[in-house]
Amino acid sequence: MPVYEKFLAGRVSRLAASEVRELLKLTEGKDVISFGGGLPDPSTFMKEELAEIARDVILRFGDKALQYAPTKGVLVFRETLKGFLKARDVKVSGDDDVIVTTGSQEALYLASLTLMGARDVVIVEEPTYLAALNVFKFFKTRVIPVDVDDNGIKTDVLEGKLKSLKSEGVNVKLVYTIPTAQNPTGVTLSFERRKHLIELASQHDLLLLEDDPYGYFTFEVERPPPLKSMDSEGRVLYFGTFSKIMAPGFRLGWALGPSRLIDVMELAKQGVDLHSSTLSQYIAMEAIKRGVVDATIEKARHLYKAKRDIMLGELEDHMEDLAAWTKPLGGFFVFLTLKRAIDTKKLLPEAIERGVAYVPGQAFYVMKNGSNTMRLNYSYPTPDQIKTGIRRLASIIRDKVM
Ligand SMILES: Cc1ncc(COP(=O)(O)O)c(C=O)c1O
Repeated sequence: MPVYEKFLAGRVSRLAASEVRELLKLTEGKDVISFGGGLPDPSTFMKEELAEIARDVILRFGDKALQYAPTKGVLVFRETLKGFLKARDVKVSGDDDVIVTTGSQEALYLASLTLMGARDVVIVEEPTYLAALNVFKFFKTRVIPVDVDDNGIKTDVLEGKLKSLKSEGVNVKLVYTIPTAQNPTGVTLSFERRKHLIELASQHDLLLLEDDPYGYFTFEVERPPPLKSMDSEGRVLYFGTFSKIMAPGFRLGWALGPSRLIDVMELAKQGVDLHSSTLSQYIAMEAIKRGVVDATIEKARHLYKAKRDIMLGELEDHMEDLAAWTKPLGGFFVFLTLKRAIDTKKLLPEAIERGVAYVPGQAFYVMKNGSNTMRLNYSYPTPDQIKTGIRRLASIIRDKVM
């Protein structure tokens, strides 16, 4: 048998399967309540409506909907999408363009492919979305973290860091941020800090990558304006997705931003997958027009708010003395910090054994600190599972503390 290692390209040498992912796989099919995933609740999928739309689209527009499409996406769908975004307070300026992608994960990948050279510098929130860190690592980008607190990324710390990096001759190119209902913490960037971030981008000539998969799910407050809408200089590339507002199985997302950048992303995408699913684009277009996306958002918002409340209530009842946690205004996650120095990664196998799983927070940190933290997902488990799961978790942690 050939030695396959010898054939692998250098760029994949740093890719490794995640131990945690392997452990979480063990929970499938067992009596383990998992707070580990990040899936939407399938009851939010409007199955009847989507089935009818899929049938209509194939029978009525099948010649186009089943055909190849332009790399940037089906023109009429891109126009519908722009209208949808404008109606939800996302500014689309005359210099902007939109590219349809295979989930927003692909938008992140294409933007990285387009903008990040080896040793270029990107600033991220700490903790941040794990799959973004992996993409940046793949492109050998230098990733510099800035802490978040309950109001999102600390822009005063960011300002200090930008100045000190500049004095060392390091030019930062990009800031990657999930300003609303962040993954993994659930926190939302305050309006003041949004303004500050936009100012810093202008002063230091940066681009902002705004990832907004959860912005449609703020619970009791209106979501703050996206950075995209506050930017007057064309410095924001805005990523969105249908994964949570329709269903992830369509694998449909987008990047909206300066047309010069979108054009290069288009060239990059040609080599990746030619274009995203034409059928998904036609279905999403009809789903927007027939109000199915709006209805999904409304249904999901209520459901996720109720589940968040159950999780926060259980945490208060059972974990008050053991941990502190974020109080998300929206999104899918609560982030928990244990008061004692218990390594949540080491604890995970035992937790799974005792019927509950989570993601150890360390995975979301650039330098892998945060060893006493964990991410808890409330969008997918049922209310009963949330109650039982948090009680199980509390008792495991209490046993360690005693
Ligand atoms: C912050 C963030 N960005 C991007 C994605 C990618 O989602 P998708 O590719 O399904 O659009 C996710 C998925 O959970 C996410 O949490």
